[in-house]
Amino acid sequence: MRKKIAVLPGDGIGPEVTKQAVKVLDAIARRFGHNFVYEEGLVGAAAIDATGNPFPDATEAICQQSDAILFGAIGDPKYDNDPKAKVRPEQGLLAMRKKLGLFANVRPVKSYKALLPISPLKEEIIDGTDFVVFRELTSGIYFGQPRGRSEDGKSAFDTCNYSSDEIIRIARLAFDAARNRNKKVTLVDKANVLATSRLWRETVQELAQEYPDITLDFMFVDNAAMKIIQNPRDFDVVLTENMFGDIITDEASVIAGSLGMLPSASIGTQQSLFEPIHGSYPQAAGKNIANPFGAILSAAMLLEYSFKLIEEANTIKEAVLQAMDEGFVTEDINKKTALSTEEVGDKVVGFINQLAVA
Ligand code: IPM
Ligand code: MN
Repeated sequence: MRKKIAVLPGDGIGPEVTKQAVKVLDAIARRFGHNFVYEEGLVGAAAIDATGNPFPDATEAICQQSDAILFGAIGDPKYDNDPKAKVRPEQGLLAMRKKLGLFANVRPVKSYKALLPISPLKEEIIDGTDFVVFRELTSGIYFGQPRGRSEDGKSAFDTCNYSSDEIIRIARLAFDAARNRNKKVTLVDKANVLATSRLWRETVQELAQEYPDITLDFMFVDNAAMKIIQNPRDFDVVLTENMFGDIITDEASVIAGSLGMLPSASIGTQQSLFEPIHGSYPQAAGKNIANPFGAILSAAMLLEYSFKLIEEANTIKEAVLQAMDEGFVTEDINKKTALSTEEVGDKVVGFINQLAVA
């Protein structure tokens, strides 16, 4: 199979972890006889420094001409500490999501046997956790208009807006996913307070009639925040709006043991984009210490979702499990015996070579 992949390393540790993901994709291409061609684009602070724009037109064009997009991370503290900065790297991320129509962010949450001891949560609570969050990504309070400041600057406002079409398209993906899993969808909302949440409930309830084999239940987001760490095994597919999904997936990453573990897919109307859920972790940038598993598992999601290469994707997941089982991990997982980012990437490649031969 010949495919073109846009590679957007971005800021901070983004380039280091993305490099490992590409290395792993190359190993897969070699073993399974595929041809992956990469084209790199600038995004985030790196793009502001070079062009003044955090998501330049040239990068957008590279994405549009590709079959899938692999993305690292965005963000640089020099902008965080300057509230008056005119352009911020995060605007590049939001522009990218909007312009590429990346409407559904899929974030799988799993506990890993080898990592159970490093989670601050009790092993018996998190062992066996396996759910997936479908977070709406191109609407809601992140994008609603109007937004801004009053003229005297003393008040500020954001708008949360949803249309039923925006809800239906992601809800369909969630129900379809549930069909291949444990057949349960939990809609997380705040329907006791918000009009948009009531529209979500109404719309999702109606759509559920097309899926009689799926159990649909509802949970207020505050309650869900509690239940996710109290009874994480109760969840199968979680469907939610943009901001609630942002918050509960950071929370859920504690179950996996490290934020560095979680991959994600942002499903688009044309191409889809794949990225670890962690940020740019500027303190670790350039030190070769960042956990590359989130990025590597994002590459596995890319193969699975965009190219339907299931065996190849499973080979990557197996290799990551093996690396973890044998203790080939970075310092966020084991300070005493930590390997570097590069070394962990090499171990995963080594296991891919072995697994694929067998
Ligand atoms: C994420 C991030 C982004 C978000 C930020 C960097 C804008 O936290 O991808 O979860 O809030 O969506
Ligand atoms: Mn987030």
